Amino acid sequence: MASFPRLLIWSAGKPSSRGFKTRETLGEFMAEPRKIIIDTDPGQDDAMAILLALGSPEELDLLGITAVAGNVPLALTEKNARKICELAGRPDVEVFAGASRPLARRLVTAENVHGKTGLNGPDLPEPTMPLQERYAVDFIVETLMCEESGTVTLCPLGPLTNIALALNREPRIAARIREIVLMGGGFFEGGNVTPAAEFNIYVDPHACDVVLRSGVPVVIMPLDVTHKALTTPARIAAFRDLGNRAGVAAAEMLEFFERYDVNKYGGEGGPLHDPCVIAYLLRPELFRGRECNVEVETGSALTMGMTVVDWWGVTDRPKNALVMRDIDAEGYFALLAERLARLP
Ligand code: RIB
Ligand code: CA
Repeated sequence: MASFPRLLIWSAGKPSSRGFKTRETLGEFMAEPRKIIIDTDPGQDDAMAILLALGSPEELDLLGITAVAGNVPLALTEKNARKICELAGRPDVEVFAGASRPLARRLVTAENVHGKTGLNGPDLPEPTMPLQERYAVDFIVETLMCEESGTVTLCPLGPLTNIALALNREPRIAARIREIVLMGGGFFEGGNVTPAAEFNIYVDPHACDVVLRSGVPVVIMPLDVTHKALTTPARIAAFRDLGNRAGVAAAEMLEFFERYDVNKYGGEGGPLHDPCVIAYLLRPELFRGRECNVEVETGSALTMGMTVVDWWGVTDRPKNALVMRDIDAEGYFALLAERLARLP
């Protein structure tokens, strides 16, 4: 697929006749390393997102990683985050533990997808780097209150529990967050954990509701775009052929991770969900989407966690999110390989 010249905002169902619109000028975008916090529930695809970020230090200043319960319980997600930092040769990264359960519902996990450890595939050593004492939600609030307003981007890759707890604890952070770029939800593609809901949002729909109502600029990478970014044998081989520790581990993680979706969807690979968030920060032109209203179901048992996207603008509800629907998959995997190659 030809790579997209720049981030193209669709209007009225076709490429905008007004040329291209981005949320920032590319000059602003490229000025200096963008300060980010990754909130995550590793998860092999989370691991790939973290590796992509750590392979991009000129563009991204990773202030910290906050772990949340999701794919596996918190004790494993925080440990996995530390394993990934050490895999990348970055034991200096601060990792914090956050919420061990959703705001209101019981925790639902996904060992059937990610394996018992949440990071099945490579045999990674137990981490020796420390887990930070501070509670992840306190780290998020304090960082946003201390850093210059409008300079920190939150990158949630799992259930939004930590983000919602931070917003509820200190509402003043909403005006100080530059952007929230999250993986979650789905609309045209339906759900992956129920017919209606995507896993991250299904686990904590109430947290998603807090985020969608916060007024913070939100970019959503839903299944509608991540299901167009499939691992294939050739793409996984390209990671393994890098020959470095990170490339080989990436191939081992994805060979385990993809088996679930290959069996379920019958494709030749699995959707590489979470790195879409980091790739958007690095190369927004790889994506196409539209400003839409998005709301989330928090009442109905049948559609709990469903993200309702007003893609066609049939309501007068406020456009509270930039929803991505298309990706240059070749460019995405090329970026991943390029940045993995920079790691040990
Ligand atoms: O539905 C996919 C999402 O749920 C990904 O973030 C994956 O890691 C799991 O958290
Ligand atoms: Ca995840």
